[in-house]
Amino acid sequence: MRKIYLTLTAGIVALSTSCQPKYEGNDAFQVEPLKDILAPIKVGAAIDNWTLRNDQNMALFSRHFNSATCENSMKPIETERAQGVLTFDTPDRVVDFVLGNKGAVMRGHCLIWHSQCPDWLTEDSTQVFKRMKEHIFAVMNHYKGKVYCYDVVNEAIDDGRGFLRNSQWLRVAGEHFIDSAFVYAHQADPDALLFYNDYGLNNPAKREKCYQLVKGMLERGIPIHGIGMQGHYNVNMDYNTVDESLTRFEELGVLIQFTELDIAGGGPDRRRQRQQQQDQMAGLGGYSGDGGLAAPELTEEQKARQDSLVTEAYKKFFAVVKKHKKSIHTITFWGLADNYSWLNSRSRQNAPFLFDGEYKAKSAYFAVRDLWRSKD
Ligand code: XIL
Repeated sequence: MRKIYLTLTAGIVALSTSCQPKYEGNDAFQVEPLKDILAPIKVGAAIDNWTLRNDQNMALFSRHFNSATCENSMKPIETERAQGVLTFDTPDRVVDFVLGNKGAVMRGHCLIWHSQCPDWLTEDSTQVFKRMKEHIFAVMNHYKGKVYCYDVVNEAIDDGRGFLRNSQWLRVAGEHFIDSAFVYAHQADPDALLFYNDYGLNNPAKREKCYQLVKGMLERGIPIHGIGMQGHYNVNMDYNTVDESLTRFEELGVLIQFTELDIAGGGPDRRRQRQQQQDQMAGLGGYSGDGGLAAPELTEEQKARQDSLVTEAYKKFFAVVKKHKKSIHTITFWGLADNYSWLNSRSRQNAPFLFDGEYKAKSAYFAVRDLWRSKD
């Protein structure tokens, strides 16, 4: 009797495992890896020291991502705060962790930027090109064979009427600083893919400036291989503008990556007043009116509204990506999960990613998965 019972039970267990439906829950450590869904597009995340301090973050990265960018620790202010004093401890640990994941690659961010740039780099016009070259060589020599691409110049285009941003680099080195940075980067590591990276490249005026900048560089024979569209988007924007920029940039025949994707739309922040207005218009609750110092927790209702707006925005964005999937090399999110994002502060709560703070796949994750699998 006992024997029959055991055989029966074993049979039922075998039957139920063989017919077991695919995992249908939302545990981020069980749902299908994003990198498998979107392959051959690489899926990246900005990570850093904060990631390595937390096992769940590392596990989330390993499951879903196959590209990484250091959120801060590879920037000049971190790697060479004082001239000639190189600090690679944190980025070295990030690079080791990332490359320990099969198939994962590492982006370099960033070599030349007006922000997070130590004064010594640009304070002397007679030394500026020499110092730029030495910095680029120091970083790229250190990571040769490990970091496969770099954001060589970051955010050099003007948001207003000018062509180039009126930065310390432009003022001290002149407009040639961009070409020179790429030439030095290519000399330092001829195998590295070199990107121009910027935000707001979906904006028609900025798109056109970027197009002209890169076209001019290609015509002059400057070694540039790609455009990084940062992709700091929000729930209210028109994603057709992203479509139009991809179409325009495709004409240049360079690689295109989304390098810093996140979709804002949440609570108030005094530093982002326009965003606040947009949030209000979208019904996400208003500015607390206290100078942004309070921590306005979103109500459950506001959170649900935010979740559905972010999901809709991700659907629109990924519909555009799908249309252009042949020309998109990598999509890097500027973080891993909603529990940490540079967009968040005490006065502003965003939910900009596909995974929430409890390591659950959000409705946006499932929307992206379903959209990617659907035929049309
Ligand atoms: C941001 C980081 O996420 C923050 O932690 C830091 O305080 C400021 O820089 N464009 C870029 C990124 O190219 O390097 C920026 O990262 C976000 C905007």
